[in-house]
Amino acid sequence: MSEPTNGNAGSFDSAERFASESFCSAQDDSSEVGTTSGLSPTTNDQRPKMIKAIRGTRDLLPPETALWNFVELTARDVFRAYNFHEIRTPIFESTELFARGVGEETDVVSKEMYTWKDQGRAESDKGQSLTLRPENTAGVVRAYIEHKLWERGLNKLFYIGPQFRRERPQKGRYRQFYQIGAEVIGPATSGSESPARDAEILELLATLLDRLGITGWELQLNSIGCANDRAKYNEALREALEPVKDKMCVDCQRRAVTNPLRVFDCKVPEDQPIIEKLPRISQFLDDPCREHFARVQEILKSVGVEFQLNDRLVRGLDYYTRTAFEFTHGALGAQNAILGGGRYDGLSEALDGPAAPGIGFAIGEDRLVMSLGKSVDDVLRKPDVYIAPLGPGMNKEAARVARELRRQNLVVELGDENFRLKKSLETASKIGAKYALISGENEISTGVFALKNLSTGKQESVPRADLGARIQTDSEEK
Ligand code: HAM
Repeated sequence: MSEPTNGNAGSFDSAERFASESFCSAQDDSSEVGTTSGLSPTTNDQRPKMIKAIRGTRDLLPPETALWNFVELTARDVFRAYNFHEIRTPIFESTELFARGVGEETDVVSKEMYTWKDQGRAESDKGQSLTLRPENTAGVVRAYIEHKLWERGLNKLFYIGPQFRRERPQKGRYRQFYQIGAEVIGPATSGSESPARDAEILELLATLLDRLGITGWELQLNSIGCANDRAKYNEALREALEPVKDKMCVDCQRRAVTNPLRVFDCKVPEDQPIIEKLPRISQFLDDPCREHFARVQEILKSVGVEFQLNDRLVRGLDYYTRTAFEFTHGALGAQNAILGGGRYDGLSEALDGPAAPGIGFAIGEDRLVMSLGKSVDDVLRKPDVYIAPLGPGMNKEAARVARELRRQNLVVELGDENFRLKKSLETASKIGAKYALISGENEISTGVFALKNLSTGKQESVPRADLGARIQTDSEEK
């Protein structure tokens, strides 16, 4: 590493200017800003109302998006280690898919879906009821059936993308939110029913949260049994609810008859003491379900993933069977579930597919980002170098230098020949570049550049061919 030189008087004109340029007034640069629109000025009351993002939706802006990218890249790495592959299903599907897959009586389907009648031109499309996906499991299972994915044996699929629910917006709850999810599905002969798959999914999640640096999460675990257990349990719930249902909210009065398990989704405070006394699913599991659940717990203990048994956890979607789980985090407040999931051994058949046991989860990415202990600065890669083209005609030369450096995997920000050096340096500091590099006529003709370290203020002369390595070495040192 060559010693930095300060100013190196007389050798490089621009290097000198680099070191000595005094910061002049902002109006020097006003011509570059220009006016923002050609619209004639309006007074406040004439101005049309500003169009804003719809309630419950939001713009994710840089630099915060760096946290989202960090989460998604880490998730992709973890999925790779567990041999999961990405699936991308459409953002809207036929309404019937969710009605049949997720369940008519669930809050998601009965209250929260964005549904519309298609205005399609073709007769076959007209009037078709479509829905923005409120979750992705039903779509993945539809794709499994449609593309005969059972022919591939066990499918280990993951997805990252937006979901839509018309819920009352609050901290951690949005109408467009993002999920990172995974599904393991296949014929029983592929091992899809094995408790080893449940435990593997849970261990994957613990690994991902650890890798993201999220501490303080809690895994809540339950088994909600198979269809047989559920029938017996629903009967017991109906009986228990019969004498008390009239004291409950209207939703619960209806659920008590149509789908008593859904009473557990009730958030009305006055209903909670009644719900607290209802029989628990754990008393109704048959031997195979009990055994399956015991095996899942055994593997979790073996791999050191801690969990809390919670037999009130039934999850809010109808397709679940056997293992059901949520990871909660204390820092999130009321919406404390970072993720949820479970087994859905009958879902494929409910959608007219073949028997295909499956298990999966979806992480609420919005909530995951909120519970990250990291700041943008921890994950953002700032520009390695800001190139300042100096003087008329220098943009084209600076573009070549930028191209050379970007090819060496450096993050390069490029200025403009119309900027004064002072403005370039200000900009370079503002965006957090490690170096500023002047690209003026002198540098281009001599092939030696002034490279200024913006944190130490030191500058040195570096031959063009060595620039990449010089900047790289320093980036690695940090
Ligand atoms: P879910 O519990 O409905 O399950 O959603 C999973 C996660 O998505 C929740 O734990 C939460 O973190 C996040 N989430 C849900 N609604 C919102 C919202 N309005 N705003 C922000 N985040 C939200 C499912 O969606 C299942 N498909 C999971 C699954 C996959 N089960 C088996 N496979």
